[in-house]
Amino acid sequence: MIPNYSKQDDWEKYNALGVTQYGQMTAGSYMYIGPQGIVHGTNITILNAGRKISKLGEGLAGKVFVTSGLGGMSGAQPKAGNIAGCITVVAEVNEKAARKRHEQGWVDELITDADELANRVIRAKKQKEVVSIAYLGNVVDVWEKFDQKNIFVDLGSDQTSLHNPWAGGYYPAGLSYEESNQMMAINPDEFKQYVQRSLRRQTDAINKHAAKGTYFFDYGNAFLLEASRAGAEVMADDKINFRYPSYVQDIMGPMCFDFGFGPFRWVCTSGKETDLDFTDQLAGHVLEELARNAQPEIQSQLQDNINWIKSAKANKLIVGSQARILYANAEGRIKIALAFNQAIKDKKIGPVVLGRDHHDVSGTDSPYRETSNIYDGSRFTADMAIHNVIGDSFRGATWVSIHNGGGVGWGEVINGGFGLLLDGSADAERKLKSMLYFDVNNGVARRAWARNEGALSAIQQELSEAVQITIPFLADDTLLDELI
Ligand SMILES: NC(=O)c1ccc[n+]([C@@H]2O[C@H](COP(=O)([O-])OP(=O)(O)OC[C@H]3O[C@@H](n4cnc5c(N)ncnc54)[C@H](O)[C@@H]3O)[C@@H](O)[C@H]2O)c1
Repeated sequence: MIPNYSKQDDWEKYNALGVTQYGQMTAGSYMYIGPQGIVHGTNITILNAGRKISKLGEGLAGKVFVTSGLGGMSGAQPKAGNIAGCITVVAEVNEKAARKRHEQGWVDELITDADELANRVIRAKKQKEVVSIAYLGNVVDVWEKFDQKNIFVDLGSDQTSLHNPWAGGYYPAGLSYEESNQMMAINPDEFKQYVQRSLRRQTDAINKHAAKGTYFFDYGNAFLLEASRAGAEVMADDKINFRYPSYVQDIMGPMCFDFGFGPFRWVCTSGKETDLDFTDQLAGHVLEELARNAQPEIQSQLQDNINWIKSAKANKLIVGSQARILYANAEGRIKIALAFNQAIKDKKIGPVVLGRDHHDVSGTDSPYRETSNIYDGSRFTADMAIHNVIGDSFRGATWVSIHNGGGVGWGEVINGGFGLLLDGSADAERKLKSMLYFDVNNGVARRAWARNEGALSAIQQELSEAVQITIPFLADDTLLDELI
């Protein structure tokens, strides 16, 4: 969309006219693999958030993670929390969604009373249980109840659909699910007021927890953005930034993306489970080999993904295509892809399509999410996404896609993705080496230009005689201060 016609209301209009549609993220590049991607991403996020709050190197046992949403993507949170080993409390207002996740085994327990929930969490904390609990009700009630009962929340977030606040993405406290659905259709202006009031209430409660030491992060659902628009106390003292980080600013950006680690995906086109099992083993071997010689800064990322791939089959996350996700850097992605291509050539498996989530090191310009830890002002430009799709297509991608709006909402992001078919040929080998290298390092370079520490270190590892990447000159701050 032309930038001036890229507001949320414009989308409704042009979609109704049939001239555009909302691609979300991976679906638009034929790389949607069901809930597996979000389970893995959430698991990595919780593990790294745990590292951030771990004062003495202790793990997540007995720590409480409070969040909301048991919908399409958010429903992954309890399962990911169980894999990470904490106590996960997820509020969900939609009874059907909550019961479905419970029946599917994605959340261990379902509680409908807030006092009962509080008692259950106190017991789980005492016994350091690994358990996930769905609360059937509004997330605002959980934050308020846990404050009253003085239950310490270690990690907090939110995954209501606030990219779409007025049409069912966020259900305000004080109205039942049915009342909300009725009001948003009949009286949208009043409903908007309810949503904004609820966001202020939710923020007030979260602020009380944060004052006691809770680490709260925005989980890429535009919570902070909408709370600020609602006038909630969510701005930092400078009145420019939010007082809480987005998970990319604090966790995924500096701990994963800046080092080139991001969501690499593949799909076995044969549709055979045995092919996927074989690729899992190949990928696991490659990561273990890399971990033997990797620098200390990336050891934990490699280890998390070795653990993940080893138990990936047991976690039963396949729906439809035989697909897998793991986080790897450029070297890891290339080495895994080379091993796949060789196995295809040797006729051990059928052809494989490589791709990734758009929620990655590269390819997505989203100032409040993927590029939120880029602080030189350039996070409001969309050049990286465009460079990625053009560069990837020249270097051998089988298809590329570019979208407006995925994840955080129409007009808020430009994101790009690709698919690359491996058929065991020498040509596929040439393409994967060239394209995957560019696809990841275009983002690492971008992050290095913004002077992100991890990216400055990672890009040094990628320089070679064949590739030159401009490295920023780090000006001495005192010199600049004197000039001003
Ligand atoms: N961080 C990431 O990597 C990531 C990935 C995917 C999606 N997202 C974002 O997360 C959000 C959720 O995605 P989804 O696919 O799960 O959406 P969804 O609409 O399927 O699920 C959201 C759920 O929240 C529930 N809900 C809304 N308001 C509530 C409230 N006040 N209290 C309790 N429950 C409430 C809804 O009933 C719904 O079931 C979206 O904004 C999406 O863009 C982030």
